[in-house]
Formats: sequence, C-alpha cells, structure tokens
Amino acid sequence: SDNFVILGIETSCDDTAAAVVRSDGEILSQVVSSQADLLARYGGVAPKMAEEAHAQVIDKVVQEALDKANVKELDLSAVAVTIGPGLSLCLRVGVQKARKIAGTFNLPIVGVHHMEAHALVARLTEQELQFPFMALLISGGHNLLILARDLGQYVQLGTSIDDAIGEAYDKTAKWLGLDLRRSGGPAVEELAREGDAEAVKFSVPMKQHKDCNFSYAGLKTQVRLAIESRNVRAEIPISSASSEDRSSRADIAASFQRVAVLHLEERCERAIEWALKIEPSIKYLVVSGGVASNKYVRARLNQVVKKTGLKLVCPPPSLCTDNGVMIAWTGIEHFRVGRFDPPPPADEPEDTL
Ligand code: KG4
Ligand code: ZN
Repeated sequence: SDNFVILGIETSCDDTAAAVVRSDGEILSQVVSSQADLLARYGGVAPKMAEEAHAQVIDKVVQEALDKANVKELDLSAVAVTIGPGLSLCLRVGVQKARKIAGTFNLPIVGVHHMEAHALVARLTEQELQFPFMALLISGGHNLLILARDLGQYVQLGTSIDDAIGEAYDKTAKWLGLDLRRSGGPAVEELAREGDAEAVKFSVPMKQHKDCNFSYAGLKTQVRLAIESRNVRAEIPISSASSEDRSSRADIAASFQRVAVLHLEERCERAIEWALKIEPSIKYLVVSGGVASNKYVRARLNQVVKKTGLKLVCPPPSLCTDNGVMIAWTGIEHFRVGRFDPPPPADEPEDTL
C-alpha cells in the first residue's frame, strides 16, 4: 500500500516525547519521559535545567519509540520535530536529534509548530474531521481560538492577553499546597470535586470586552487574595490539613475552576458565531492541549457546542497533553502534500545547529 511511517520528536517544554505513527493514523509507538518530579523539587522550569534533562533522555526515548514500533530508521519516510513555540534551549535538543537521524539515514525533516500539532492530532482520532473546523487550544503556555480553514491556513480568533488557563491552574495548585509531583491541573480538578463552586465569588475575566481573547492574570490574583483572606495554611501540605482547612481549599479550587471554564465557554460561544459567518460549513469544535484532559472542561464545552449545533472533538488525555504522536501526525499531514525540508548533510557538526 502507499502507507508511510514518520517519527515525531517533541522537546518544547518539560516532557521529552517521541512516537512512530503510520500515515493511516495507526500509532505504532508512543513514549513520554516527564520532568514533573524535577519541576516539583525546584518549583518551576529553569531553562538550563530543562535542557539538561531533555539531553539526558532524548537518545533513550527515541530508541524506545523505534524499538516499540519495531521499526528501523530506514523504514521511516521522514523525521518530524517541534521547532516552536517553546524554550529555545529545549527545542534545540529535539532538533539536533532529528537532524542527526535525518542526516545519517538520508531522511527529510518536517518542522512542526507545537500548537498546530495540538489541533491537528484531532484528525488522527476523528477520521471524519475535515477542514474547515474550529479549535480551542488550552495549555500551560497558550490559549488560542482558531479557525482552521485548511492545512496551514489558520485564522486566529482569540488569544490570551496575559496568562494561559493552564498557568492559572498550576499556580492555584501551588498556592493551595497541592501535591505537585504531577502537574497542577489534575490536582485542582480532583480537589474541586469536593468543593462548593459558588462559595467564592470570583469575577469572570474580560466581561466588558466583546471579543474572543482571554485573560487569566486577574483571576490568578483573585485566587491568591482569596487564599490569604481565608487563612488557608498552604505551607501545610493538603494531605495533613485539618478537615476545615481542606474544605476551604476545595471551595477555592471549585470556585476558581467554575469561573476559569466559564471564561472559556463565553469565548467559544462568541467565536463559533464569528467563525460561522466566515465558514458556514463548520461542523466541529476541537478542544485540545493539556487542559482539555479535564473532565469538567469537556463537559461544559460540550454543552456550548451542542447549543450551537456543532460537535465537540476532544482527543484522549494522552494526546491532549504534550506528546510525540501529535508531532508525528502533523509531520504526516505536511509530508503528504510535499511540505518538508531535504535531508541535512550527514556529517554536520553539532555546534552549528
Ligand atoms: O499541552 P501541555 O501538556 O503543555 C503545554 O504545551 O503547555 O499543557 C500543560 C498544562 C499544564 O498547565 C497542566 O496543569 C494542564 O495542562 N493540565 C490540566 C489538566 N491536565 C493538564 N489542567 C486542568 N485539568 C487537567 N486535568
Ligand atoms: Zn502543549
């Protein structure tokens, strides 16, 4: 058959990931090595430290992806790698690795935009998903509402004017003293289930701005002030908090989540209205990026989408958070239409990259 196979490499943030995907959408392997432990110990991403962590595991992660897929480098048609956006020191680790393999085995390279990959991976999981469609991309660093008119043709309908929603989840988790060995989002989601979402009256961001942009810096501040005024003792880990303290933390988590997601709902509703004027044939809203693995987010956005007659497409959590599959798949989409770079020289010295 005319199927082909692509290796995808992702190192833009704090996960080192690789995957091998076939052009018919079959995932042959998927490997992610997380720096979450490291981040919890040091309380955030330091670029130099993250770079070293990627460099330490990249060879192993890629080898494991090839082995699990039972594929040799020569079976590949191309190597796809994230070229941005992200920390440049971290991106370089992935790009160097991709160029080394591509140079040695004479393979083309597809440079992939991380956010495009978050959106396009939905076309792997939902074979029906044709252009044009809409996408809400919600992660740690970005909040984007886009209209995808065709491959490579994206109209930005909205973006964050300050922080992304994932950043607000992560800070809320930290300030509430939650266990950060995993990322903050899931910890807040879990605690919010115990809380009263009406307990704290946070205001919805940007009510007066009738556009599709996002802002989470103000909500972050509201959360911090609520924590201070309620005497939550966040220096005590939640596991040892008194039941009273625990329940006030849960109320803050639930109230934060309700308003954070309400902001998404309002923006999506307006964006769908706008997009239908440009492309009346739109049938899908894709929701992807790390925060899209949140069940409450999915349920609420499903309501919005139903109201407007569209269908929600949400990739499974392992494909919403950063992963190599979405990079390989986006590589496949571009390679298929001839968008790739020729193989780099085989004996390229590493320090010129
Ligand atoms: O897409 P992603 O893996 O990396 C970036 O490109 O940023 O997104 C990571 C973000 C983090 O802020 C993390 O806390 C958030 O996604 N996240 C969640 C959940 N799972 C991950 N936020 C809320 N609820 C979740 N279940
Ligand atoms: Zn991401």
